[in-house]
Amino acid sequence: MDFYDKDIVSIRDFTRDEIEQILDLSEVMIPYANGDKVKRPLDGRILGNLFFEPSTRTKLSFESAALRLGAEVIDVSQMSMTSISKGETLADTIRMVDTYCDVIVLRHPHEGAARLAAKFSINPVINAGDGAGSHPTQTLLDLFTMRREKGSIDGLNIVLVGDLKYGRTVHSLADALAMFGARLTFVAPESLQMPEDTVRHIGERGCSPRKTDCLEEVIDDADVLYVTRIQKERFPDPDEYQKVAGMYRVDNAMLREAKSDLIVMHPLPRIDEIAPEVDRTPHAKYFDQAFNGIPVRMALLCAVLGGKM
Ligand code: CP
Repeated sequence: MDFYDKDIVSIRDFTRDEIEQILDLSEVMIPYANGDKVKRPLDGRILGNLFFEPSTRTKLSFESAALRLGAEVIDVSQMSMTSISKGETLADTIRMVDTYCDVIVLRHPHEGAARLAAKFSINPVINAGDGAGSHPTQTLLDLFTMRREKGSIDGLNIVLVGDLKYGRTVHSLADALAMFGARLTFVAPESLQMPEDTVRHIGERGCSPRKTDCLEEVIDDADVLYVTRIQKERFPDPDEYQKVAGMYRVDNAMLREAKSDLIVMHPLPRIDEIAPEVDRTPHAKYFDQAFNGIPVRMALLCAVLGGKM
């Protein structure tokens, strides 16, 4: 795939080869991402960072990625500070911002918002999370982390635990892992299990996941434990949230049952689903994972803007 001028809306738009192209370019970006080397292939380009939902990692790592490559950033962090609060549509907002920058990164509370934005923007749109929909750039950095830590993703036994219904990162991730021939286990209470659409999609790619609500049952043969937060803000009924809050907590006692080379990942933010004591074990990879957002987003920005490294 020639990524130049392309929208990045869903991981389903990528083939495995295309994902690997981005992961390979992300590897090249590492010394530039941590400041050991400097190159400015995007000098003179502008990133428009529109974040209509809270974010720490995605927003700041896109900014850092752009700045490391020599681009400038304009940004909005709250819908209430834009003319959307006066009734302007997302389509009109995107038409305007499109003329102020060269690439738009959009986080929005509504599923499908990035696809809609891509229809109205001439410049590329990158989906930074659309409601409970998907989060393709998170998936790319998750895959990058797995590949770096494990050497290869093929055949890994990967357990996804927590809020698989509202957690958009796991929707995109399951789609991608099915392309890589990973073995998947979904751990969640029935009310928060993986949506049927994702289960059907990965099934068409030959992946039939195990499902359970008991993490202790499956942790012993996992290679990767991908933990997610219960997405309190997406529950229509607060009582339903209370029924599942705090249901899973990974701590050192639980990890004694795991393989010695198990890696624990989390897209973050975490609340109480990973005990802080786990941070000091060799299993903990979630902070490395968060750093990996920079080289991966550098690779994406370079690819869609035609920057040459
Ligand atoms: N992982 C992730 O999307 O984090 P933020 O919500 O802080 O961007």
